[in-house]
Amino acid sequence: MQELTTYLDTHKDRFLNELLELLKMPSVSADSAFSADVARTAQFVHDSLVAAGADNVEICPTPGHPIVYAEKIIDPKLPTILVYGHYDVQPPDPLDLWESGPFEPVIKKTALHPDGAIFARGACDDKGQMYMHVKAFEMMMKNDALPCNVKFMIEGEEEVGSDNLGPFIEANKDKLAADVCLVSDTSIIANDVPSITVGLRGLSYVEVEVTGPNRDLHSGVYGGAVANPVNILAKMIASMQDENNRITIPGFYDDVALVTDAERAEMNKAPFDLEAYKMDLDVKDVRGEKDYTTLERTSIRPTLDVNGIWGGYIGEGAKTVLPSKAFAKISMRLVPNQNDDKITDLFTKHFESIAPESVKVKVTPHHGGLPAVTPTDSVEYKAAAKAMEKAFGKAPLPQRSGGSIPIVSLFETILGVKTVLMGFGLDSDNIHSPNEHYGLFNYYKGIETIPYFYQFYAEMKK
Ligand code: BES
Ligand code: MN
Ligand code: MN
Repeated sequence: MQELTTYLDTHKDRFLNELLELLKMPSVSADSAFSADVARTAQFVHDSLVAAGADNVEICPTPGHPIVYAEKIIDPKLPTILVYGHYDVQPPDPLDLWESGPFEPVIKKTALHPDGAIFARGACDDKGQMYMHVKAFEMMMKNDALPCNVKFMIEGEEEVGSDNLGPFIEANKDKLAADVCLVSDTSIIANDVPSITVGLRGLSYVEVEVTGPNRDLHSGVYGGAVANPVNILAKMIASMQDENNRITIPGFYDDVALVTDAERAEMNKAPFDLEAYKMDLDVKDVRGEKDYTTLERTSIRPTLDVNGIWGGYIGEGAKTVLPSKAFAKISMRLVPNQNDDKITDLFTKHFESIAPESVKVKVTPHHGGLPAVTPTDSVEYKAAAKAMEKAFGKAPLPQRSGGSIPIVSLFETILGVKTVLMGFGLDSDNIHSPNEHYGLFNYYKGIETIPYFYQFYAEMKK
C-alpha cells in the first residue's frame, strides 16, 4: 500500500481544495430556497465520482432531492462494498454565532485540532467524511489497487429524514446488492483514541400545537381568566420528565432493551473526562437520568428533548399579549428495541391526555427511524477494526453513539446488509451547530484508512 501513501502525499493539497469547493455550496436540504444549490452539489458529487474513475455515474431524481449513484465492478465474483453518505447539510443558523461564513470555508487551529480544522457547515457532517470515500476510491483506482467492487449511494435528504431513500432502495434492490454497507458519518473518541460506532439511536420527531383562545388577547383584560397556551405547553413539557429525569409517558420504557451490568461496566471503561466535558460546554454540572453515567445517557438510554419552542410576542421590546397559540418541536431518541411508530403513538395519546380542557392540542409526526446495533464479532467489524488499527497504530474501541442514521436499519431490512459505521469526526466538531469543523488530520486519516478496510474486507471474505 506504499503507493497509496505516496499518492496521498502528492495530492494532499488538491484533495483539500476540492473539499473546500464542495463546502462552498449551500446544500441545505430543509429549505426550498436552496434547491438549486442542492442540485448543483449533486452534480459536483457526480462529476467527482466520474473523475475518480467510477462507472454508470447517475444523478437519480426523487420527489425530493436527487441521489447520486456510481459503481465500479471489477469482478462480479468479488465482494461488493456499498458506500453511503450524504451531501446535504443542516441549516447554518444562527448565522451571527459563526466566526466565519458557514459556506466560506477557512482553516484554523484549535486545541483538539493542532494541525488545523476546516470550518464550514457540512465540513464534518457529512461532506468532509463522504468526500474521503471519493478520494480513497480515486487513490485505489489510479494505483490499480481496488481489491473488490464498490457502489456509491450519496443522498441529499439525510438531514430531513431520508424520506425518499427507502423507496429508492426498495425499487433498486438488485442494483444496490452488496455484501456490506460502509458509512463515515459518525465520530471517534479522540484523534489518539480511535473507535468504531457499533450502535445508533432511533428517533421519533413530533411537532405540537397548543391552542387557547381563538385570537390573541390583551393580557391585562383577559389574563388570569383564560388559559395561556404558552404557559400550558411549558407545564405539559415539564411534566414529561420526573424528578429522576425519567420520561413519564406511560409505556415509554416497555421495549427498552436492558444492557447487562457487565456490558455497562465495559462501556464505561472508554476514556471519558467528565470535567473536560463540562468545561467544554461551560456547564457547572451535567443532568440526566438517575443511576446512569453520561456515556450511558447518550447511548443506551432513550431521551425526550425540546428542539424548538415558540409562541406569542418575540419581537423587540414588550407587547402585552395573551397568545392564541404555542408550538414546540420535540425529539425522542430511541434505543433497541423501541419502535418509532409505537413511541410516536404513545407520545400523541399521552400529550392529548394531559392537555387541560381549556386548550386544544394537535400533534404532527415528522420523521422517525429505528435504532441500530452492529455485532463486533462479524467479518465487517473485524475488517474495520484492523483497518483502524493499521492507520492509527492503535486498536479501536467499539462505542455506541447517541445520534441517528435511520436509513441504516433499512439497509439491513431491505438489502440484508450490515453497516460498518467507520466515522472520523469528533463529538466536539460542532455538527448541526455554529462553527462546525473537521480536522485536517481526520480528513486525511480517513482517506488513509478506507483503502485498508477494502483490502482487509476483501481478504477476510475470501
Ligand atoms: N451524522 C449524523 C448522525 C450522527 C452524528 C451519528 C454523530 C453519530 C454521531 C446525521 O447526519 C444526523 O444528524 N442525523 C439526525 C437524524 C436525521 C433523521 C435528521 C440526528 O441524529 O439528529
Ligand atoms: Mn450526517
Ligand atoms: Mn446531521
